[in-house]
Amino acid sequence: MNQQIDDLRNQAVASLKTIASSDELNSWRVRYLGKKSSLMAVLKGLGELPAEERRAVGGQANQLKKELEALLKEKEEALAAVSNLSTGGTDVDITLPGRPANLGKLHPMTLVLHELGEIFASMGFEIVEGPEVEWDYYNFEALNIPKEHPARDSMQTFWVDAPPGENGWEMLLRTHTSPMQIRVMEKQKPPLRIVVPGRVFRYEATDATHIPMFHQIEGLAIDKGITMADLKGTLYEFSRRFFGTDRRVRFRCDFFPFVEPGVEMAVECGVCKGEGCRLCGQSGWIEILGAGMVHPRVLEAGGIDPDVYSGFAFGMGVERIPLLRYGIDDIRLFYSSDLRFLRQF
Ligand code: DAH
Repeated sequence: MNQQIDDLRNQAVASLKTIASSDELNSWRVRYLGKKSSLMAVLKGLGELPAEERRAVGGQANQLKKELEALLKEKEEALAAVSNLSTGGTDVDITLPGRPANLGKLHPMTLVLHELGEIFASMGFEIVEGPEVEWDYYNFEALNIPKEHPARDSMQTFWVDAPPGENGWEMLLRTHTSPMQIRVMEKQKPPLRIVVPGRVFRYEATDATHIPMFHQIEGLAIDKGITMADLKGTLYEFSRRFFGTDRRVRFRCDFFPFVEPGVEMAVECGVCKGEGCRLCGQSGWIEILGAGMVHPRVLEAGGIDPDVYSGFAFGMGVERIPLLRYGIDDIRLFYSSDLRFLRQF
């Protein structure tokens, strides 16, 4: 008898595990707890047993009945919870496949700035940032562009209507990242190697190639014995890493008041491979940055002795780079917040 009750328990528990609907559960209830179930038969037959056995079997059978009733109740509740969820009874339907999370992306300009930063960081340059609202002293004066210098005209400036600073300095939105050359020199003594990514502002009419806010990345390296060879080596290496080893690079003389000598660097047009096309204005080359050996007056303005130290600097327009890489013909797309454009990067 003992064995029979144990078998019954095992069977009932095993079959309960496979049940997934309330209909099935009802059949289970009839089968194991119903009037015609084996368990009921045992209970009904108790009267015919000798007194000794009756107590033992009765105890076991009643114990099993209680157990099965408890399991039934538990299962009923579990089924009710699932059906509640799948019929919208609560906020979460656990039977639906999950909704894919909507992942955002970094803006193409941010991606390019990160990539540039990584390349220069791997060459030992530290990444620093500076103020977008500047004094004309840092933006012009200390960079060897005094008040009446014509170079000021080429940088249409947003002046800020604010009380003058130290020594009557006027406030402006920086027109390039070069002012950070001076700020870094004031604080840090050579040897130093830095790059400065950031926004710059020019009071210019907007068209396919001009916007009043764009990005530059400035570079500065100062130490004893730095030469033009260091400048060229660094920028060649940058070009190889960024544009690939097969792109030719060209340096030509250029003028910037804060360097002497000054150069401009161009890379071979990636679209026509130097043949000449619409993108490069038929020249086969695309200018990407200005550079040069830091002018002695600039070193002096930064508190560095030009007889002991020398350095090179460069400044690159960052928007140009994705324009060239992806053949985009309108710079305004980057800032029009059109997700159809931005999602492509
Ligand atoms: N600041 C210059 C500009 O915005 C670019 C530049 C040229 C930066 C030569 C430099 C440099 O550091 O050496 O047009």
